[in-house]
Amino acid sequence: CVCLEVHGFSLCPSVNFNMTPPAEEVRKRTPSDYIFGKVLGEGSFSTVYLAKDIHTNKEYAIKVLEKAHIIREKKTENVMREKEVLRILGNSSPYFVRLYWTFQDPERLYFVLSYAKNGDVLSQLEKQQCLSIECARYYTSELILGLEFLHDRGIVHRDLKPENLLFQENWHLLITDLGSAKIMTDCDNENDDFDKRRRNSFVGTAQFVSPEMLTDTSSSYESDLWALGCIIYQIVSGVMPFRGGSEYLVFQKILKLLYDFPEGFDRVAKDLVEKLLVIDPRQRLGANDEKRYTSLRDHAFFNGQNWDDLGPPPAMFDT
Ligand code: ADE
Repeated sequence: CVCLEVHGFSLCPSVNFNMTPPAEEVRKRTPSDYIFGKVLGEGSFSTVYLAKDIHTNKEYAIKVLEKAHIIREKKTENVMREKEVLRILGNSSPYFVRLYWTFQDPERLYFVLSYAKNGDVLSQLEKQQCLSIECARYYTSELILGLEFLHDRGIVHRDLKPENLLFQENWHLLITDLGSAKIMTDCDNENDDFDKRRRNSFVGTAQFVSPEMLTDTSSSYESDLWALGCIIYQIVSGVMPFRGGSEYLVFQKILKLLYDFPEGFDRVAKDLVEKLLVIDPRQRLGANDEKRYTSLRDHAFFNGQNWDDLGPPPAMFDT
């Protein structure tokens, strides 16, 4: 296949400045450098495996994509974009999975990513129904710091949901799956005119998709703020705000903002969710902030939060 060339990264370790790096670090990787283990996750276009580097014994999550499937489904551009986004993010944020290597064989493409040992937020919700309000506050704070970093680099995630939020071994959050991400161009941002932002085809997951992505298939940073509202609702209550028997019914509810809060839902968290789940993207809390989401940081839900140092994650389980 010539139309889907994904070149591997050459690692340039700064620790070996002006010296020949060890052969192991510059050599191209192949599937035989890893022992593939259990499936960690499955998507429409990829499967993520736990894999161990046979040279270092380090564990990674390797995302494997079938070239023929990618070409058939016309997802080549998405794959290239995911790689580009991961390259832009590099290792400069603690809140995003890191891409270590890419390589390919005749049939497949491989992305070697950080492995998050404690699974995803959705599985955690399945285990314990919902997070304590203390955990919800902590992980929402980590998510906001992650979004500040991402949006500051001109990238919209577009598929934020509990499944794409992972827990590392130390229980810090790791945002994954940038396969639907969009790199905003100057044209997208032109005069900050929302209407001029480029139209896109529908991406994302039904329950977390923003109204503007449904009506004019446009998306921008505010679409991630909508998803943030859905995520806060779900981690606090255990259920998604917009539910229905079919995607169509879910979309109808989103467009009409048809949702309510279960009894006992934290009053302050409710206020935050209501300020994020707003039909007009411009009116969402944070939409008019610059660089940092100060209006989110200043919300009463985060009272007392030290944004310069969130401290260690609270215990996940009640003891
Ligand atoms: N599931 C999907 N991606 C993963 C990753 N990077 N680590 C752990 N589980 C995952």
